[in-house]
Amino acid sequence: MIFAVVLAGGIGSRMGNVDRPKQYMLVGDKPILIHTLEKFYVHDEFEKVIVLCPEEWVKQTQNLIKKYLGQTDRIAVIKGGPTRNETIMNSLSYIDEHYGLDEETIVVTHDSVRPFVTERIIEENIKYVKEYGACDTAVAATDTIVCSQDNQLISEIPDRRQMYQGQTPQSFNALKLKRLYESLSEEEKETLTDAAKIFVMKGEKVHLVEGEVFNIKITYPYDLRVAEALIRGE
Ligand code: CTP
Repeated sequence: MIFAVVLAGGIGSRMGNVDRPKQYMLVGDKPILIHTLEKFYVHDEFEKVIVLCPEEWVKQTQNLIKKYLGQTDRIAVIKGGPTRNETIMNSLSYIDEHYGLDEETIVVTHDSVRPFVTERIIEENIKYVKEYGACDTAVAATDTIVCSQDNQLISEIPDRRQMYQGQTPQSFNALKLKRLYESLSEEEKETLTDAAKIFVMKGEKVHLVEGEVFNIKITYPYDLRVAEALIRGE
């Protein structure tokens, strides 16, 4: 079984002083989260779309889904965790409880604040995760990437042709992800903010899926303006 896991458990602190987590802000005529859900909701391959949000937003999220997408049992809303990875783990517990986790269980995890994901990206995630057990969406870096270990002097300038910028979806064999995450120390859990990195660190293959430059993550107020412009042009 394949599940879409939409991560909406953050509070959006970099968006500044706003009255709600950024995934609930309007872009065009709908909350960002609804734009994102529309992209996953239409795919028959997903057994269920699981949305994880802050606990105090669960009811409100269910109401928004009803308002914009109608009454549906295709989407489950549950509470997220204190970190992004813990939010993903909550989705695995939900799947385990309601369906059972087995070798065939796949999760396609996606940031709720990336509403411009495309059908092609989702389909390629499903294809490659089935084949490799894990895949990650990324775009080739356009800028040269400069590394600095002390944030003052440049320590390395890697070959740009090997550099990519990570996006989402990131898709995983659910059991493998659970086992790898549980094998981490508490310290590793705190530092490993990226789920695909857990696989890479443990020597597991993660296939690349080509993203899109416009598959932006809405993080800062500036991104909201870009998102508005993209929606108008879509
Ligand atoms: N996320 C989540 N659970 C968390 C933290 C983040 O599901 N405990 C989700 C966010 O809701 C977002 C995605 O992960 O859709 C990407 O994270 P980011 O853009 O960093 O979101 P926030 O943590 O909300 O933003 P900030 O870091 O500015 O507070």
